Amino acid sequence: MSKILVTGGTGYIGSHTVVELLNAGHEAVIIDNLSNSEAAVLDGIEQITGKRPPFYQEDVRNRTAVQGIFTDHPDISAVIHFAAFKAVGESVMKPLAYYGNNLDSTINLLECMLAANVPFFVFSSSCTVYGQPDELPVSESAPIKQAESPYGNTKQMCEDILRNVAAATELQAISLRYFNPVGAHESALIGELPRGVPNNLMPFITQTAIGKREKLTVFGDDYNTPDGSGVRDYIHVVDLAKAHVKACERLIAGDNKKSIEFFNLGTGRGYSVLEVIRAFERVNGVKLNYVIGPRRAGDIEKVYADTSLSNNELGWKAELGLDEMVASAWKWEQRLGS
Ligand code: NAD
Ligand code: UFG
Repeated sequence: MSKILVTGGTGYIGSHTVVELLNAGHEAVIIDNLSNSEAAVLDGIEQITGKRPPFYQEDVRNRTAVQGIFTDHPDISAVIHFAAFKAVGESVMKPLAYYGNNLDSTINLLECMLAANVPFFVFSSSCTVYGQPDELPVSESAPIKQAESPYGNTKQMCEDILRNVAAATELQAISLRYFNPVGAHESALIGELPRGVPNNLMPFITQTAIGKREKLTVFGDDYNTPDGSGVRDYIHVVDLAKAHVKACERLIAGDNKKSIEFFNLGTGRGYSVLEVIRAFERVNGVKLNYVIGPRRAGDIEKVYADTSLSNNELGWKAELGLDEMVASAWKWEQRLGS
């Protein structure tokens, strides 16, 4: 059983991963500056697992703070790095904030962990690195496309940094390329906390259903897809979280085949926006007010994962389907609204 440092561990995906680490018998130490999350998330983690991990409210860019964590916990075996800014549209308006936060935090963390002789690193990447792939399902060997946004570029640049550092040092890294994470823990004690008007489909659906938003706009129905709306590979956040446990265990056991590996995390099945809406209405018995609108700038038509490498090599497979995703997302929204 290992002790894992989780940056961004009070965030959406980080908090679910901390729960799965603790459920698997590991220990977690969290660093988060609460720029996009709340300390109360720790209560949710404790209620679910019966354990409250040590928490440092610090910025991952702060060298002294990160060094201090490795000094306090000399038994940390691996690091999972979630801490980053993640809003694609905002990154276009504030590129320096995104390059500054996402790159500096990664560089600082790598320097501190290597200085502390901790070589194992799991990184939050994104299927955005593939852009609109030429072939579907998209595999890890597909070409990396010119990033559409500063945010997407930070993911590509961090992957490049990891490649270079893994070639030059003891670093052993796994970059996990998430498709579209949605849903919440079945307890509804933790979930996604979007600030302001959500950009992503699922929180917009749940906020519309509960009455916080008047209507959902479907961004385009003239794509080359079966019903014309955009297709994505939605993945339940709990499945996603479990893949991080597998990735840490793989590195710590020395089962990795190369000093840097890349894995797609999706279900392998694409759903259109209209299919997600229909599943939400059917599973939750709620009618959703939606209209068809124009395409959103920068959106791709369709993407879904080839998951054979993560299934066969990482030993991980998504278990939860769209029904569980829309049910847990709705349960979480109702809890937030209560
Ligand atoms: P989130 O915003 O909920 O979590 C990120 C956490 O990091 C937040 O709690 C925030 O307070 C913290 N943070 C940000 N910068 C920090 C810093 N400098 N120091 C300390 N803490 C800092 O986001 P999430 O959805 O959980 O995403 C986690 C990771 O996964 C991010 O790297 C994101 O880019 C990546 N990712 C997310 C998605 C998605 O759709 N949610 C898709 C692909 C990749
Ligand atoms: N959509 C709508 N209406 C909305 C919101 C979204 O129709 O109000 C549609 C989009 O057009 C798209 C689908 O729902 O077809 C999913 O959109 P999201 O914004 O939820 O997700 P994206 O696939 O656009 O973006 C996600 C992450 C990004 C990441 C990107 C590629 O949010 O961080 O995947 O990995 F960069």
